[in-house]
Amino acid sequence: MKAIRISKTGGPEVLTLENIELPPPAAGGVRVRHSVIGVNFIDTYHRSGLYPLPLPSVLGVEAAGVVEMVGENVTTLKTGDRVGYCMVMGAYAEANNVAADRLVKLPVGISDEIAAASLSKGMTAQYLLKRTFPVQPGQTILLHSAAGGVGLIAGQWAKHLGVTVIGTVGSDDKIALARENGCTHVLNMRKDDWVKCVREITNGEGVPVVYDSTGKDTFAGSLDCLAMRGMMVSFGNSSGAVPPFEPGMLAAKGSLYLTRPGLPHYIRTARELQDTANDLFAVIASGVVKVVVNQRFKLADARAAHEALHSRSTTGATILIP
Ligand SMILES: NC(=O)c1ccc[n+]([C@@H]2O[C@H](COP(=O)([O-])OP(=O)(O)OC[C@H]3O[C@@H](n4cnc5c(N)ncnc54)[C@H](OP(=O)(O)O)[C@@H]3O)[C@@H](O)[C@H]2O)c1
Repeated sequence: MKAIRISKTGGPEVLTLENIELPPPAAGGVRVRHSVIGVNFIDTYHRSGLYPLPLPSVLGVEAAGVVEMVGENVTTLKTGDRVGYCMVMGAYAEANNVAADRLVKLPVGISDEIAAASLSKGMTAQYLLKRTFPVQPGQTILLHSAAGGVGLIAGQWAKHLGVTVIGTVGSDDKIALARENGCTHVLNMRKDDWVKCVREITNGEGVPVVYDSTGKDTFAGSLDCLAMRGMMVSFGNSSGAVPPFEPGMLAAKGSLYLTRPGLPHYIRTARELQDTANDLFAVIASGVVKVVVNQRFKLADARAAHEALHSRSTTGATILIP
């Protein structure tokens, strides 16, 4: 099968299309023939070496498709079932072998494209807003990269939960989209003094939570946006990893809390995975969350997809078609 594999870490140029053998699925696993592959910022961390992988590795963590072959001891899935997965390596390929308990069956009404564009990003929004810091109606929160893949889903979902969302974006042309997808206030973080703006919007109080996936460039400013005893949720590194810091800073800025969560720890068991996916599918089915796919590439053009992500020009989700 065709797959995008890396044998060394580096820039988008290390992504190479190769023909590789996929063995039959092991006991407990199935082979999924991909119809759509999700592109996530984490793929760039794997490619660059920020999150180390054994080499060579097929990149990608998310896809949707159909069960093509069933390994021994699998009772929950059969050939022909439509399924999706995320946080499983090997997705940038025509097919992948996946443990049956890491797959979710796709309900009628959730297309393969919607699943591949939303499982990782939408389940992240779910756990951030409902489990890491469960937002309460009436609160005002700060969400960085509000026009991105996670951002558009989290903005819509947060608004539905009764929250006023202050979103940041990296350019003026993303402002309208962020507004249409849940944000009441949108700040251009490359032009506005966004920390000052957040203080003004909250009458000097600050916000009870910041969802910060930008990392290095925003970490310090995000702490300055928090109300006393507020929660800093640092969940990504789009601008680079957050450098080491002195914990005393959390006391000095108002007895703040800091967490650095990761999706795999919130979908640890098959039950947690299914419950989280069900919650996401429900908000999509009811129209509360619209999944916006704004970039589509061929699998062979994965390099261009990564270049687009790095350019900060993408909005919503990006997918690859095998
Ligand atoms: N911890 C978890 O469980 C988890 C799960 C999923 C995703 N994430 C994180 O959530 C973030 C969003 O993921 P995504 O896949 O939906 O990506 P995305 O938001 O669609 O794309 C990343 C965005 O980051 C912003 N950005 C800020 N500084 C940047 C820089 N120096 N270079 C490039 N982009 C920069 C850009 O938006 P603006 O220019 O508009 O700011 C860009 O569009 C990523 O940081 C990802 O690692 C974490």
